[in-house]
Formats: sequence, structure tokens, C-alpha cells
Amino acid sequence: MHRDVAALIDRQERWAGPLGEQAQGILARLLHEGGRRPIKDVLNGTWLGHPVHPAVTDVPVGAMTLAALFDLTGRDSAADAAVAVGIAGMVASAATGASDAVDAYGRVRTHATVHATLMSASATVYLLSGLLRLGPRVLRPLARLLGYAGYGVMTAGAYVGGDLTYGIGSQVDRHAFEARGTKWRSLDVSEVPAGTLVRAKAGSDAIVLYRAADGSPVSAFHALCSHMGGPLDKGTIVDGCVECPWHQSRFDLGSGQVRQGPAVYDQPRFEVRETAEHGLEARRMPTGGNGRA
Ligand code: FES
Repeated sequence: MHRDVAALIDRQERWAGPLGEQAQGILARLLHEGGRRPIKDVLNGTWLGHPVHPAVTDVPVGAMTLAALFDLTGRDSAADAAVAVGIAGMVASAATGASDAVDAYGRVRTHATVHATLMSASATVYLLSGLLRLGPRVLRPLARLLGYAGYGVMTAGAYVGGDLTYGIGSQVDRHAFEARGTKWRSLDVSEVPAGTLVRAKAGSDAIVLYRAADGSPVSAFHALCSHMGGPLDKGTIVDGCVECPWHQSRFDLGSGQVRQGPAVYDQPRFEVRETAEHGLEARRMPTGGNGRA
């Protein structure tokens, strides 16, 4: 069944692609310009070390499930309160989800746009249901019906959203499945000129090396950005951090900790040594700033 659903969503590219791109333009202006980047970091979860959106979405799903059960059993006040909480949760979910989606490309953007469209439709239906609940009792059956319809659309949207993470890997740490290294591995470079980001291979890992002009030790990180795999060796050095060229996440040169989003996970670090026998060698540090690298 999942294959058919995924193919159905892929076929929405014709409208979801342009719509997503247009929405991204507006969101990028809202979230990037005028010093608003810290707001985006809060919405992404950079401060938390974990994406905020999947946690926040539990609120409307839980609240609307309760609302449906209360409506079915005739507990009107409880249902109304649950719908109000659910709508508030949907607003928070929309803000955090939009902040994640603004950095998406290609198939991820198409699926994210379909997800957002379904959730927006559900929120609109719930809003109508909520307004009818404030009116005379004669409108109660229609309010309930709209609630059930909103729940159905929300469930479809939640399915697409879950697949974005579990099926397509959006917002997954690009280093989630790598083991910690214990062995020193030779690098395929023999020197690290000061002030330049240098890409090197350490076994199967691509790493990026940086030596500051002040003579401080060489910093070494995995070359793929933890956010979406951007090439950090093509990045720039800003304020003691390496900045990813794709979405401008920044990682501290000393610790690998994320200092600016949209990344939420730290960058795996390597220690570097030079031996007379093997030249430059690197091995992955046992822990990173979040204890996971
Ligand atoms: S890939 Fe997005 S910030 Fe690096």
C-alpha cells in the first residue's frame, strides 16, 4: 500500500513543486531577513538539539483524537476544549513545520507541500467546526461532522508527514548510522595549509580539516553537514565556526557543536595526529557536543 501512496504523492509534483517553491520564497523572506534567523533556529530546534516539529505535532493529533471521542460520547464541553487546544497545536505545528520545509528541495519539498496542504485543509475544517461550536445548539451536529472530517484529513496529513521522516529521511541526522571510530586512519593529504578548508579521506569517511593562522590545533569534522549533507569543505569560516554553504548552519571549530541552524545535530569530530611512519592520521572522537557523535 505504501508504494501506491508514495507514487500518488510523487504525482502531485506538478502543482506541489511550484506551490512549495513559491511558499518557500515568502517564508525565506519572513524567517531569514531582518535579523530573524534566531527565530528560525528556535522553530527548527537548534537550541534543543532535536527537531521541534515532530514533538509539537503530537499536541493536535492527541487533542483532536480526544475531541472525536468526546463528540461521539456527547461530552460537548470537553470536545470544545479539545478542539481549541488542537487548533492552537496546529498553529504551532504549522510554524515549526514551515521553518523546516523552507530548506527542502526536490522530492522532499513535494511531499512536504502535500503534507502542509492536507494539514492546512484540516485546520480550516476544524476552525469552522470550532466556530459552529460557539453558535446555537442546532449547529452542534454539523460541528461534529466537520470535526470528524477534519480528523480524517489530519490523519492523512500525519501519514504523509511521518513518511517524510521515516521514508524519505527529511530532518534525520546525516550521521545517525555511523559507528564511533577507535582506529587511526591515514589521510590522503600530507599537509593542512593555514586558513584553508581542506577535504581529505579517512577510510570511507570524507572529512574537512582546518588550521587557523594563529597556530591552534587542526580542527577536523565529517565533511557532510548533519542537516542535509551539504559539503562543509566548500563552506566558509565565520566567527570561529565552519558555515555550511547550503543553508548556512554553523558548527563550532573547537567542539563541532551547532551554533546556528537549521541544523539541530552536532557535527562528528575527528582528532588528528602526525606520525613519521604514516603521516597525517585521523580518528573519530568518541563523543560530540550532544554525546552522540
Ligand atoms: S545541508 Fe543544510 S545547513 Fe548544511
